[in-house]
Amino acid sequence: MASESYQQLLDTDSRDAPPVMREERRTDLGSDPIAAERYVGRDFFELEKRHMWTKVWQMACREEDIAAPGDVHVYEIVDQSILVIRTSSGAIRAFHNSCLHRGRRLLDQSGHVEQLRCGFHGWSWGLDGELQSLPCRWDFAHLTDAELALPEVKVGLWGGFVFVNLDPDAMPLAAYLGALPAHFERWKLEDCYKAAHVARVIRCNWKIAQEAFMESYHVVATHPQILPIFADTTAEYDIYGDHVNRNLAAFAEPSPHLAERPSRETVIAGMLDLWGRKPLGDRDIGDSPAREVLGDIARRSFAKATKRDMEDVSDAELLDAIVYNVFPNFAPWGGFAPNIVYRWRPNGDDVDSCIMEVMILKRVPDGEERPKPVPVHWLTEDEEWACAKELPALGPVIDQDMGNMPSVHQGLKASGTGKVHLGLYMEGRIRHFHQTLDKYIARGQRGA
Ligand code: FES
Ligand SMILES: [Fe+2]
Repeated sequence: MASESYQQLLDTDSRDAPPVMREERRTDLGSDPIAAERYVGRDFFELEKRHMWTKVWQMACREEDIAAPGDVHVYEIVDQSILVIRTSSGAIRAFHNSCLHRGRRLLDQSGHVEQLRCGFHGWSWGLDGELQSLPCRWDFAHLTDAELALPEVKVGLWGGFVFVNLDPDAMPLAAYLGALPAHFERWKLEDCYKAAHVARVIRCNWKIAQEAFMESYHVVATHPQILPIFADTTAEYDIYGDHVNRNLAAFAEPSPHLAERPSRETVIAGMLDLWGRKPLGDRDIGDSPAREVLGDIARRSFAKATKRDMEDVSDAELLDAIVYNVFPNFAPWGGFAPNIVYRWRPNGDDVDSCIMEVMILKRVPDGEERPKPVPVHWLTEDEEWACAKELPALGPVIDQDMGNMPSVHQGLKASGTGKVHLGLYMEGRIRHFHQTLDKYIARGQRGA
């Protein structure tokens, strides 16, 4: 029987989902339309740049990306560039990527350095940002070494990720993340390593790309092939404070859109195909429901791959989309399947294009050394996501989303009403995002 809500489906699962998955956070966010200008207008992009990107905590990289002293990650956001560095003591610090002499970027790309030495006139700093030397120091007698220390950018750590915030008065990261750390206590992304990292420029505003991943409403038109295995319209959307929301959506359960419920065998075969696994053949599965059968298969295979006991892990944590968004642009998946992580950013200072990144985090097998993180695999604009073989199943689905994004951008420029309408519930996360964005802009404009 089709369940009416995600929570009702969880009631029928073979094992209890953890308490954080059993709470619903519905919030009435109103019904106002969203102005098309917010996606395609230069003026609005400037407001985001001035009042939002300079104030928010942003995921810059994984801690493992800068594992050794001297490793540096160059994080770029709009027209800002930040050096995220592992210092000699093992701590992580961040600095504006700009020479204090005449402003050259100190580093043009991520890598490993012994010191931060500017290529223009050779001023150099240690990994902690203290001035080391500059040619002809006598000609800069008017400046003290203290004045010439590199100005820092705030750093916060969570879940094995390094966050930065350009606002020296920013609230602590833990306060900003709100409910997120407690929700992920069980899923521990810090125990994972980065097994895949794929990036690509997309010809649309960064919010158009991000919002394509914030609701399951588009599945019926954009990904109809997954309807037999994905309960799109019973997905749950929860709002937590200003910065966090989530989507819980069941796999291994058919869409209510289908006039006839597919058989259990069809659901099982569809999920195994999605996972790239062989069909069950003659294996006896008794009369267990599809989610229990598939939960068992996933549980056993993850237990084997990670050498961990997964017996208390629920079917939902192994099968479902458990997708959190942290304002403004970071989306880690919860649960125990290999965890997907998305990030969207403007492509430099461009309103009309963005960078989308997809990472896959896998658990470090118990007792084994953490594998080295993979480098970023940049797809060219001619390449489909399906070319990224490290994203099995996911790549072709993202390619279907890509079929919409540039067309949404162009369509919004051609809008006859200048408005976008959102569903009251299923698109609530998009509305939540815009309301938080408005709070940052209003606060910035008040000068607070
Ligand atoms: S601009 Fe960097 S040393 Fe001159
Ligand atoms: Fe999609």
